[in-house]
Amino acid sequence: MRLIIVGAPGSGKGTLAGCIKSKYGYTHVSTGDILRENIKLETPIGLLAKPLLQEGKFVPDEMIIEIVKNKLLELKDDYVLDGFPRTLNQGIVLSADTEIDKVIFLDINYDVILKRLTNRRNCINPECKAIYNLNSYNKDTCEICGAPLFQRDDDKEEVISHRYEVYKLETAPLVDFYTAKGLLVRIDASGTPDQTFEEFKKLVIGE
Ligand code: AP5
Ligand code: MG
Repeated sequence: MRLIIVGAPGSGKGTLAGCIKSKYGYTHVSTGDILRENIKLETPIGLLAKPLLQEGKFVPDEMIIEIVKNKLLELKDDYVLDGFPRTLNQGIVLSADTEIDKVIFLDINYDVILKRLTNRRNCINPECKAIYNLNSYNKDTCEICGAPLFQRDDDKEEVISHRYEVYKLETAPLVDFYTAKGLLVRIDASGTPDQTFEEFKKLVIGE
């Protein structure tokens, strides 16, 4: 299947995509991870993206569309897109030449998001990319691969609130867009990661 996960910052897109990858072997394509990797390597894309990500702003549509289109050419089926599309324009461009099977909308409110993101820690190893939360995991190395954990630059309270405003304005309209196409599956994402994954299995895989 070709899946998209849409949701606010901190709704658990990366966490759910990680579960889908581990259990079903899907390829996880996170545009945020691709941009952060470019920033680390100081590529031309990374140099342009760095100040935008630090302020919680989107990179230009043309840039991200180019990145994703090239990525999709390499991919076989059974993938999950995390963080793309995130504007109506990106959704329209994607639907012009890619058939998507389901769009999972992770529904959550801002108070939960804020608590999650200020406590998030990520594995620094790009092959692993495990996601943790200080509420449930309080070590500074990854329990899967042993690499150090880091805190993302955009997980500061003032940047989080800006990212949420941008989400409401730019990304939330995709919910209606995919509902109208009959592809949307809404999941209450305020529970635990396991509960979200169970809902996914029931509603999307049919297990
Ligand atoms: P991106 O990296 O995609 O960030 P985001 O959308 O803001 O989402 P996050 O990664 O912060 O949250 P998430 O939903 O993945 O939550 P997670 O699973 O980590 O994008 C970053 C930036 O790149 C954007 O701001 C933009 O600048 C740019 N960009 C990317 N794509 C773009 C595009 N298409 N167009 C333009 N610009 C683009 O979980 C969060 C925390 O909660 C973790 O600590 C986790 O352990 C915990 N958690 C997760 N699920 C649960 C649960 N069910 N219960 C309890 N805790 C949970
Ligand atoms: Mg993420």
